[in-house]
Amino acid sequence: MTALLEVEDVHVHFGGVRALDGVSMQVEEGELLGIIGPNGSGKSTLVGVITRLTDPTSGELRFRGRSYASTPAHRVNSLGIARTYQSVRLLPDLTVVENVLIGAAVTAVSRPAVVNWLRLRSRGEQGRLRAVAEEVLERVGMTSSSKAYPGELPYGLQRRVEIARALASKPALLLLDEPTAGMNQAERREIGDLLLELKADGLTQILIEHDLAMKHRICSSAIALDFGHLIASGTPREVVEDPRVREAYLGKQAAQNYSPVLEAIDS
Ligand SMILES: Nc1ncnc2c1ncn2[C@@H]1O[C@H](COP(=O)(O)OP(=O)(O)O)[C@@H](O)[C@H]1O
Ligand SMILES: [Mg+2]
Repeated sequence: MTALLEVEDVHVHFGGVRALDGVSMQVEEGELLGIIGPNGSGKSTLVGVITRLTDPTSGELRFRGRSYASTPAHRVNSLGIARTYQSVRLLPDLTVVENVLIGAAVTAVSRPAVVNWLRLRSRGEQGRLRAVAEEVLERVGMTSSSKAYPGELPYGLQRRVEIARALASKPALLLLDEPTAGMNQAERREIGDLLLELKADGLTQILIEHDLAMKHRICSSAIALDFGHLIASGTPREVVEDPRVREAYLGKQAAQNYSPVLEAIDS
């Protein structure tokens, strides 16, 4: 069986920085794959490569067995790949439903661009887009906030709107870059539950997440990066128990004696 996503020997060099240095990985359909690694290890760069926002220096990308390494970023969405960002990127003067409605179809940065884009759609298409937006807002449990502005919502819900926006393009693969950053424990648990529900719906996901306990609870597989290298892959437990992963997080000495990583998971 062909994997849904295949990343083969990808290198990304920013000047002298080797952000990714020969990374290969695969994601099977239905998987929820976690990426761990210290700050600066290349996690966001890998998500950028997979979504084609970052051009690899070399390497190959395949989705459903077909190369898309030369597909421009704005066409990746139509392949069935969507993402959320490390920081909230909602448009503040559009309502929640409007933010979701533009989906990832428009990687617009300004209100005029969005309004213009919307105006160019036929009435029928606008209606269809709105129906999809309402459906995904319901999916993430946010129907009652659809007419609110992002700034009126608590941070945790703003992040949830971002997930809805990514879902509006009906992706087969969703990449989430630290979707629970800045959230409290209860909010993190709720996002974890949502990602598990999306997995049950059949959505394949790649998740960058620092909370290893959450990762252990929801991920079906994991990889670890360090200095742009893939240093471990397997089940979440195999990955966090890998000596190289412990060393990357804790330093060699500490890794021999102490395991807050495993304590976090067992607690
Ligand atoms: N656009 C860029 N230009 C130059 N260096 C970058 C750029 N993006 C990332 N880097 C560098 O690449 C490395 C990996 O970064 P990143 O993928 O953001 O790590 P992570 O998400 O794991 O924290 C870091 O050293 C970072 O400073
Ligand atoms: Mg990052």
